[in-house]
Amino acid sequence: MTAARNGTPLVELDGVGKHYGNIIALHGVSLDVSAGEVTCVLGDNGAGKSTLIKIISGLHRHDEGVLRVQGEEVSFASPREALDRGIATVYQDLAVVPLMPVWRNFFLGSEKRRAFGLMDIPYMRRTAREELLRMGIDLRDVDQPIGTLSGGERQCVAIARAVHFGAKVLILDEPTAALGVKQAGVVLRYIVQARERGLGVVFITHNPHHAYPVGDRFLVLKRGRSLHHCAKSEITREELTALMAGGAELEELAHELQSAADDRAGTAAAEELAREAEGLHATKED
Ligand SMILES: Nc1ncnc2c1ncn2[C@@H]1O[C@H](COP(=O)(O)OP(=O)(O)OP(=O)(O)O)[C@@H](O)[C@H]1O
Ligand SMILES: [Mg+2]
Repeated sequence: MTAARNGTPLVELDGVGKHYGNIIALHGVSLDVSAGEVTCVLGDNGAGKSTLIKIISGLHRHDEGVLRVQGEEVSFASPREALDRGIATVYQDLAVVPLMPVWRNFFLGSEKRRAFGLMDIPYMRRTAREELLRMGIDLRDVDQPIGTLSGGERQCVAIARAVHFGAKVLILDEPTAALGVKQAGVVLRYIVQARERGLGVVFITHNPHHAYPVGDRFLVLKRGRSLHHCAKSEITREELTALMAGGAELEELAHELQSAADDRAGTAAAEELAREAEGLHATKED
């Protein structure tokens, strides 16, 4: 399924699986993450997306299959181990301290110190500003509390931070889920920036319209299994949308409700219901 590409992938999953008690969250999933590529992982709620990235980022251990990082088999015991191998993860609920300045959050836990353990504040301010600029983020003031930034901007700071601290693989769990169209567009642009800088990006989303423009490869999960895995050239946006669980079901629901409305022609409530179902379907397509 995976087209031949040059070089050893940064991360390789070979038939990886994971269960929680008797729930099989993931089974037999294979995936390659290569430098300078965006791999999108799609799937409906409960499809196993977060489980998959938790395995790569060291939060959970897989109990089936093989995980390789730059060709070497690994089983991470902690996120620290993954980070030491250059795998950085940006979670949707970013661990930021809202009242602390942007630069402080940028260096949180990795503060630059001078002699006697004093923090090198000018260096950190300057570097945070430069790194953000390199990603195309022009913040007027890196001293402003990070809590004053929009959700999209905060995601971007987290991406710039991962790039600065030498990430080779950048994992983003639904970074655009809670964002409006414009903010989501901003985050998508930084995903492309990270790819241009040679990182291997794993982008988790349930929105094919966010995935398609930036993705080089797509993995669609359904109930913990790999439903489809392909390169962009092998799939259209429409096909990707159709593959997403829920699309077909919602269409069916819309039809069902519409015929209920037709049966009881004149019943305002049923018509309203059908309109809502149509809206629901349209939202899913967005
Ligand atoms: N810690 C856990 N303990 C028990 N079951 C879990 C745990 N984490 C996930 N699961 C189950 O594993 C399956 C996959 O969950 P996962 O969180 O990976 O899905 P997801 O694709 O990220 O969904 P969402 O879009 O809702 O974030 C689900 O059935 C879920 O209930
Ligand atoms: Mg999830």
